[in-house]
Amino acid sequence: MSLPKQVRLVEVGPRDGLQNEQQPISVADKVRLVDDLSAAGLSYIEVGSFVSPKWVPQMAGSAEVFAQIQRKAGVTYAALTPNMKGLEAAIEAGVKEVAVFGAASEAFSQKNINCSIAESLARFAPLMEAAREQDIRVRGYVSCVLGCPYEGEVPPAKVAEVARELYAMGCYEVSLGDTIGTGTPGKTRTLFDTVAREVPRERLAGHFHDTYGQALANIYASLLEGIAVFDSSVAGLGGCPYAKGASGNVASEDVLYMFNGLDIATGIDLDALIAAGQRISQLLGRANGSRVARARHAG
Ligand code: HMG
Ligand code: MG
Repeated sequence: MSLPKQVRLVEVGPRDGLQNEQQPISVADKVRLVDDLSAAGLSYIEVGSFVSPKWVPQMAGSAEVFAQIQRKAGVTYAALTPNMKGLEAAIEAGVKEVAVFGAASEAFSQKNINCSIAESLARFAPLMEAAREQDIRVRGYVSCVLGCPYEGEVPPAKVAEVARELYAMGCYEVSLGDTIGTGTPGKTRTLFDTVAREVPRERLAGHFHDTYGQALANIYASLLEGIAVFDSSVAGLGGCPYAKGASGNVASEDVLYMFNGLDIATGIDLDALIAAGQRISQLLGRANGSRVARARHAG
């Protein structure tokens, strides 16, 4: 299969990245990050989550962040919503696109959202209905698609089953999450090949954490499977609070550098993205997780 001419990057740094930072981050700093990202040309930014603040304290200020960002025309500003309460809060904050998140592993589902896979899907149903009535688009996530921190191997058929359910209930796109970054390119190809029997390839996205350094290779493998939407996190921020040892998402800068080299269009300015990543890394006092940014700033 030939490579796509264009791909869409879903920037998850302000959500997947910052949800896992230990230190407090002000609303103003989150707003600045989101605005830097839209200025760099990102057309889709996951800004925050409407989840229990007891479970994920870092996302508690999401409504304030939504109120203060400078909304740029053509940019989608999205939020995670695990249930009706989350959706209602998102609507109140003026959010036009949300994401529900399920898992392909029972143990992870329990740890992350305190219910079984079947219960989570049942919870999403009224949310989907309410979102439809309000013209809010819903994206779906499946976690642990290439391994689970509690159960180990996860069969691709199980991922396909959950992805099919999310698609059938109205998610316009389903993002497959390698939450703990254990996937490798061959397994990634098999996974997409299996899931694509249930959900069209153009409705699937890849979400790779880079814990084992496989994320870019897995993205390339996904391109070969006809996947053209990828989630990534500026400066490689992040992890998952319910997946011990999970490092950040693949760095957006590194993904963009690879796409630029492949002549795949994204509409994103690499220098501006690197600057956004440097700013947030310095603010958090952490090393920049992007290899490209580090190379550019070395010496
Ligand atoms: P629960 O305790 O089972 O929920 O949590 P509950 O309905 O029994 O409610 C308990 C309390 O939470 C109540 O408050 C509710 O009001 C409150 P209390 O009476 O104790 O004061 N509550 C809420 N508050 C704010 N917003 C809400 C909400 N819902 C209930 N929406 C729940 C269930 C799902 C709420 C909880 O488990 C939760 O918030 N989990 C969050 C998990 C999370 O955000 N994980 C990280 C994101 S997923 C991820 O990172 C993976 C991904 O990147 C893909 C990948 O890498 O694989 C997407
Ligand atoms: Mg994630």
